[in-house]
Amino acid sequence: SLLVPSVQELAKQKLTNIPARYVVHPGQESPAVSAGSAVPVVDVQKLISGDSMDSERQKLHSASQQWGFLQVINHGVTPSILEDFKREVIELFKLPMEEKKKLWQQEDSFEGFGNSFVVSEEQKLDWNDMFGIMTLPPSIRRVDLFQKLPSKLRDIMEAYSKEIKSLAMIILCQLGKALRMDEKEMTDLFSDGMQTMRMNYYPPCPEPHKTIGFSPHSDADALTILFQLDDTDGLQVRKDDVWVPIKPLPNALIVNIGDMMEIVSNGVYRSIEHRAIVNSVKERLSVATFYTFNLASELGPAHSLIGPNNPPIFRRVSVQKYLRDFFARKLDGKSYVDFMKV
Ligand code: SIN
Ligand code: FE2
Repeated sequence: SLLVPSVQELAKQKLTNIPARYVVHPGQESPAVSAGSAVPVVDVQKLISGDSMDSERQKLHSASQQWGFLQVINHGVTPSILEDFKREVIELFKLPMEEKKKLWQQEDSFEGFGNSFVVSEEQKLDWNDMFGIMTLPPSIRRVDLFQKLPSKLRDIMEAYSKEIKSLAMIILCQLGKALRMDEKEMTDLFSDGMQTMRMNYYPPCPEPHKTIGFSPHSDADALTILFQLDDTDGLQVRKDDVWVPIKPLPNALIVNIGDMMEIVSNGVYRSIEHRAIVNSVKERLSVATFYTFNLASELGPAHSLIGPNNPPIFRRVSVQKYLRDFFARKLDGKSYVDFMKV
């Protein structure tokens, strides 16, 4: 990705008009339509305890088919860890520019402050700053970056990342069961995945309708867990060709199916396009935690799900190559998963 200026710094200049690089092409701003329906809510405790009819798993299954998005409650992530992590992420974005520069990303790296998916000087930019970091397994961490992080953030991120991994594993395994995947195939694929985080900061914007906080995209990973740090809305998902806003529920986390899971499920689950919009009055923060499949494995429709009556609709490629190719492009809706079609 090319290096881009800080939007947070830009927003401090109290502009009345935003620079042209942030103005989306006409026609690309489609209004949200609050359809009567809302993203389904799944209770993780009920999921684990497996009530007699497995109705919670059924709910997870149909949400993953129809929405690709859900909110989870009773998710088991310790409330004090969420609180502390939230506070430290807010502090991270408040660091003075001099401190942030030490944590700024290098070209061709997703890690640090900056942005990703910027491939040309002409490209339109999103109205956000991000901080990206690879968190698990510990062997993939960039030691120098971890050492430079504020120590409170480093410690709480450690606790948060472990709990989010457990939650991701619970949900992935439940999805595997709902799909009737072979147990061994599930363990080989799901365990030892890679976890990365993307912290998003969306400053208030003087012309919110002319720009976009996060361009429409689907996530490349297997499963994303999103923590919205406050109740400011902004996230919208594309459902039946309209944008539906997600109203954050108190104490809930948002879970979404990524492209990798769509591929493994052979298209049964959907990795849905989503975007974030901004507003003129309030900043908004969120942290997306991405969980991929085992880096040593091959990505493709699960062997236990395909057969003569259910031919694979996606190609097979190594997880490593898949991720390398994904980060070399600009965000463009769902075209990457389409590119994997047979
Ligand atoms: C994203 O990670 O796709 C954006 C999430 C958000 O800020 O709501
Ligand atoms: Fe996303």
